[in-house]
Amino acid sequence: MDWGMKNRLARIFNPKSGKTVMLAVDHGYFQGPTTGLKKPRETIMPLLPYCDSLFVTRGILRNCISPSANTPVFLRVSGGPSVLGELSNEDLTTSMKEALRLNAVGVGLSIFVGEKNEDRTISNLGRLVNEAEEYGMPVLAITAVGKEMARDARYLGLASRIAAEIGAHMVKTYYCEEDFEKVIEGCPVPIVIAGGKKIPEKDALQMAFNAISKGAAGVDMGRNIFQSENPVAMIQAIRAVVHENYNVDEAFEFNKLKEKKMVSSVVE
Ligand code: 5RP
Repeated sequence: MDWGMKNRLARIFNPKSGKTVMLAVDHGYFQGPTTGLKKPRETIMPLLPYCDSLFVTRGILRNCISPSANTPVFLRVSGGPSVLGELSNEDLTTSMKEALRLNAVGVGLSIFVGEKNEDRTISNLGRLVNEAEEYGMPVLAITAVGKEMARDARYLGLASRIAAEIGAHMVKTYYCEEDFEKVIEGCPVPIVIAGGKKIPEKDALQMAFNAISKGAAGVDMGRNIFQSENPVAMIQAIRAVVHENYNVDEAFEFNKLKEKKMVSSVVE
């Protein structure tokens, strides 16, 4: 591995814990101005100090994030269809030159295993990895779930392994309660979990805790952070689980504590 690739990976994964908290705010690339991201700058800026990298499109990055923010940028580089169309109909939207120009630490795209455009999206991954290897740029493959596919270990394991075989340096997939460790075992590159739809804070912390306990390398979480009643407290609690080995109750209390602290500091 060349120095540039190693250096980017070291900026993604905390050298002490070996894990990562990525903040996913790319949802608008097919959902438009979704809940919690209607005013991206207002939502994202207070969260930046607590994430290891920001998973974002170039449009939101350029228009809503200060270039002086020190948070590493992980760029979404695939897209095409809107939420009204065939979601698997994705292609590469953003060039490697652009990723380098934006000083990205990594690039991410979706593959749609079991969906209509499975083969094209997997080929997209192959082409992206070919180019990324030339520039020392880590590639994150996002394993989207086919509409007909259950989010179980068999399916998630299949999609994650295919992503790694094609050359992804990291995989983002969903957590499943049963046999998640088998998904991890079957995939030779680090796996981070997406959070999925908003669920109660304690349940989201439990999901992160379980995933980390079973071998996940971190989270790339969006809605369960930015749609939380207190996003800043929630991302700190997630951080405590991922990096500090907090259990769910400790993280939840920490979360509440931070809430009180924040309220009192506003009052003071
Ligand atoms: C959308 C994505 C999102 O980044 C991913 O789903 C993570 O966000 P969330 O935690 O809200 O699921 O890749 O395709």
